[in-house]
Amino acid sequence: MEADPMTANHLRTSMVTRLRDWDGGALPPSVDAAMRAVPREAFLPGTPLADAYGSSPVVTHRDDNGIATSSASAPGIVAAMLAQLDVRPGHRILEIGAGTGYNAALLAHLTGPGGQVTTVELDHGVAAEAEQALATTGYGHVTVIPGDGEYGHRPNAPYDRIIVTVGAWELPAAWADQLAPAGLLVVPFRMRGLTRSVTFEHTAGTWRSRSMHECGFMPIRGAGAVAERNIPLADTGLTIRIDDGQPADADALRRALSSGPAQSWTGIEVTVTGELDFWLAGLDGFFRLLAGNDAVQRSGIVPPAFNWGAMGLLTGDSFAYLTRRPGRPGHSELGACGYGPEREQLISTYTDRIRAFNRSQAGRLQVEVHPLTGAPLPGTLMQIDKRNSRVIVLTEGEVGREALGAMAV
Ligand SMILES: C[S@@+](CC[C@H](N)C(=O)[O-])C[C@H]1O[C@@H](n2cnc3c(N)ncnc32)[C@H](O)[C@@H]1O
Repeated sequence: MEADPMTANHLRTSMVTRLRDWDGGALPPSVDAAMRAVPREAFLPGTPLADAYGSSPVVTHRDDNGIATSSASAPGIVAAMLAQLDVRPGHRILEIGAGTGYNAALLAHLTGPGGQVTTVELDHGVAAEAEQALATTGYGHVTVIPGDGEYGHRPNAPYDRIIVTVGAWELPAAWADQLAPAGLLVVPFRMRGLTRSVTFEHTAGTWRSRSMHECGFMPIRGAGAVAERNIPLADTGLTIRIDDGQPADADALRRALSSGPAQSWTGIEVTVTGELDFWLAGLDGFFRLLAGNDAVQRSGIVPPAFNWGAMGLLTGDSFAYLTRRPGRPGHSELGACGYGPEREQLISTYTDRIRAFNRSQAGRLQVEVHPLTGAPLPGTLMQIDKRNSRVIVLTEGEVGREALGAMAV
């Protein structure tokens, strides 16, 4: 059945009105206009209009195990990333991850008739659907390339802007090679399991961030794929999620539960945890504990601060994670809970780190991606050696760096 255009127009206007207060700032007028112009429902055939214009992502394809492999991203993050990308009329743009084609249409609207949009999609069937939707909505001039975005698309390079709409673990050489001088890359970048949409500039072989925005994306597939490891703790329903391939013994961690908990509170009350997770992710043994309500009940553990992935630390046979309890109105007090023979030491390390974060009044975080050659930089918040690059996370506050030097595990 054809969507009722009056209803779709109405829902599209409400969506943009909701987005205008995005992130506490104004939606850039060009992004506002593009999101009013492109009919999102046309890229989501068969999806109820209310879902197409809801605030959540819409999954369009799943693999045989039911894992989502393609979606239209949530309008909020689409708008946020387009604001980061800062497209000007006439820009040549490369998108990695065409998906439904919706974002490619927005890009085509932003760059206008003098520009060019190329979008690469790994799944050939998805690419064909995107091409079809773009053609029927008047954006048939977007070039859809079925293939692995790891390699970009050299024939249309150089690009003034590259936008990646799938979670990347590394920044492949092709993206640097195909970016024009003074160009920008916006990418959901995975750092020890934390994902941020980062705007990068590239100079003299190094990527440096200009802005960051919290987000979640499905991981990239193809040549650049690095799977997250999900380690279920036997029958507890608890899952340990590790991004960087560090070893973990599921049986030993399952046995750790029999020690009973050790808990410690910091007296630090917060409204949001901000960038605390980056501070914790700089410690060895960083992981995230996934513990839905069922799993908390079944395992009997002290509830973690966030059931979708509380930040934790683990050793061979023990683990600790973030907890919170109500503080003064609108605030939560932060603490740590640990299980296993080393639980006391782990919660002490953990709460020391929360205190250092609190003292640091850390400024904005910055991310740099360097070649693997060269000596590690001392005193940074986090360094991750990946397959082809060294990722460094820095704070603007020197106080934070001193505190960190003293607190490495
Ligand atoms: C979140 S969806 C993209 C949303 C899309 N931009 C839209 O507007 O609908 C991520 C897409 O990236 C694709 N993808 C995953 N790995 C890829 C790769 N290496 N190269 C190109 N596309 C990839 C997936 O097949 C999926 O369609």
